[in-house]
Amino acid sequence: MDAGMLKTQLLDSSTLSLEKAAAILRDGGLVAFPTETVYGLGGDATNAQAVAAIYAAKNRPQFNPLIAHFPTMASAAMHVSFPPLAERLAKHFWPGALTMVLEKKAESDICDLACAGLDTMAVRVPAHPVALDLLRKTNRPVVAPSANPSGRLSPTSSSHVIDALDGRIDAVIDAGPCSIGVESTIIAVREDAVRILRPGGIPTEEIAEVAGQEIATTGDNGIIEAPGMMSSHYAPNCALRLNASHPLPGEVFLGFGNTDFGPYCLSKSGNLQEAAANLFAMLREIESTGAHTIAVAPIPEQELGRAINDRLRRAAAPRE
Ligand code: TXA
Ligand code: MG
Repeated sequence: MDAGMLKTQLLDSSTLSLEKAAAILRDGGLVAFPTETVYGLGGDATNAQAVAAIYAAKNRPQFNPLIAHFPTMASAAMHVSFPPLAERLAKHFWPGALTMVLEKKAESDICDLACAGLDTMAVRVPAHPVALDLLRKTNRPVVAPSANPSGRLSPTSSSHVIDALDGRIDAVIDAGPCSIGVESTIIAVREDAVRILRPGGIPTEEIAEVAGQEIATTGDNGIIEAPGMMSSHYAPNCALRLNASHPLPGEVFLGFGNTDFGPYCLSKSGNLQEAAANLFAMLREIESTGAHTIAVAPIPEQELGRAINDRLRRAAAPRE
């Protein structure tokens, strides 16, 4: 079967269909699935190519960090650490429309691109029975932003997904309309303090009550728009020089396309999805060599190239 020739498959929520969907996810494909909040566009969180394909399908201009979905708190706890307060909130609100940003464990195999290079990871256990069944069958962390093109409304039915993404993703599981219809509430939990990063399906008041504390909301709308605005954002320890045609003495070159300046190349064939999948891991790898400056080849300002350039410009910007 050549998935590239097919339009998106519409699946029902039978056991057989969910097994099919899980197999697509494990093979690196993209499956939109229902949650109680909105339909998510799922991909294997451990597969950087799959994560890059999510950004491409959504036509997202930036690499926002994504939410990893799990069937249980125990499965999430293999990838992030739960301080006691986070554990208490998880036990109360999961499965449900609460997402927690927690410290990523070193042993997690979730790819850097899914976290946009951060040391934290957003995790949630959705309440929708179809989502839970799919996650159990997939048996891997599944990242899922809302299944809509960037800048458009979140989908609350499979037909919304098909209208905008038909032919751009492998499958959509139809299970009727979402019961909540707005995205999950995102909180950051650090030791004994909770902050709201995005208001959503679970009211702040309920979280405050279970947490036993008043809760501050960040910013106007509470949404962290981009990794560059986050306190712990990834910035390499070395300088970056962008749009470099070749390395100067002492620089390590990060190529794109068929160049011949050392071992690091985002994509020999000039494929932007492959480049996106490699970006964070390669920056970290070069950083770990103790390089002083990374000279980065020009990346075309189109499709995922816009997100790659956005991230490179942030990493290259002077910092305090
Ligand atoms: O209801 C939902 O949460 C839906 C369904 C499908 O689960 N998913 C969803 O994902 O809304 P998305 O991609 O729209 O939300 C991800 C947002 C990011 O844009 C960012 O604001 C925040 O979550 N986020 C993710 N990881 C983060 C991190 N490590 N630190 C801070 N914020 C993070
Ligand atoms: Mg969204």
